[in-house]
Amino acid sequence: DWTMAAYRAEAVEKIRAQVGDAKVICGLSGGVDSSVAAVLIHEAIGDQLTCVFVDTGMMRMGEAEEVVTLFRDHYNIPLIAADESDRFLDALEGVTDPEKKRKIIGGLFIDVFDHHASATGGADFLAQGTLYPDVIESVSVSGGPSVTIKSHHNVGGLPERMKMKLVEPLRELFKDEVRALGRELGLPEAFVGRHPFPGPGLAIRCPGEITRDKLEILRKADAIYLDQIRKHGLYDDIWQAFAVLLPVKTVGVMGDGRTYEYVLALRAVTSVDGMTADYYPFPHDFLGETATRIIGEVKGVNRVVYDVTSKPPGTIEWE
Ligand code: XMP
Repeated sequence: DWTMAAYRAEAVEKIRAQVGDAKVICGLSGGVDSSVAAVLIHEAIGDQLTCVFVDTGMMRMGEAEEVVTLFRDHYNIPLIAADESDRFLDALEGVTDPEKKRKIIGGLFIDVFDHHASATGGADFLAQGTLYPDVIESVSVSGGPSVTIKSHHNVGGLPERMKMKLVEPLRELFKDEVRALGRELGLPEAFVGRHPFPGPGLAIRCPGEITRDKLEILRKADAIYLDQIRKHGLYDDIWQAFAVLLPVKTVGVMGDGRTYEYVLALRAVTSVDGMTADYYPFPHDFLGETATRIIGEVKGVNRVVYDVTSKPPGTIEWE
């Protein structure tokens, strides 16, 4: 794609012009946006870039390991990977309000990120994978008055706090363009085509209090759901698909015994940019088979429901 090739060359020049020979820190989330930003910046300035990956304990199954493997081993990009899951889980203990969760995670993330970034001896620039829709959605909704629906995790207070200048090479792009740029940069297709994943991670897919046990149940169920979607060849037709563990237990029956376990909701939507979305019309067979697998394989879940709400009026995430 020559357009993306041109964009890439231009972006590399812009980054070089902006940064000069200064050091840059980039926070990796494991998602497509920050990954593409990191690889692009690395192409521009090489080892002047250090990436920092904070494992908040809110990642999906195997995700933290994948990030480390891809960046450190495959791309040879200097990477600081910190497992801070205990700090996040402790800070979230007993918290049920969605905005409080977001604020706690956002605030702690800044502290922890700042701490690990300082260990590199100080950088002048902070790189972020901010996209055009992130810029808009944090300012206004549907062109109306400025209303915050959800505090976004990646356009928060990091820059002010760290007194660093920002490098945001994706600020003019939509998601599909970021993916095209990622392909242009040679990122693996399976990585570039990944569904978006929110900064606060599984915390906002676990309504009510977050516990280690609930996260473990959610991780297992979510992995089975995505495995089913991949097996049926549906992954690329869907914008985002994930499981939500509800803070509700219901009665069920297994063998000749009564069960009393959690309800799991499945969500899948199609969308162009995440601003509006339609629920994905799975065949009933698929839903039935997936529910059977999850209930059979995941201890702690005895009922599965499918979310048929579009955005608006729903949001994509449940919190
Ligand atoms: P909602 O739930 O607002 O989500 O319809 C729209 C898109 O944004 C993602 N999302 C986030 N992404 N930090 C992010 O980087 C966040 O705090 C955040 N909250 C929601 C969501 O997954 C969907 O793709």
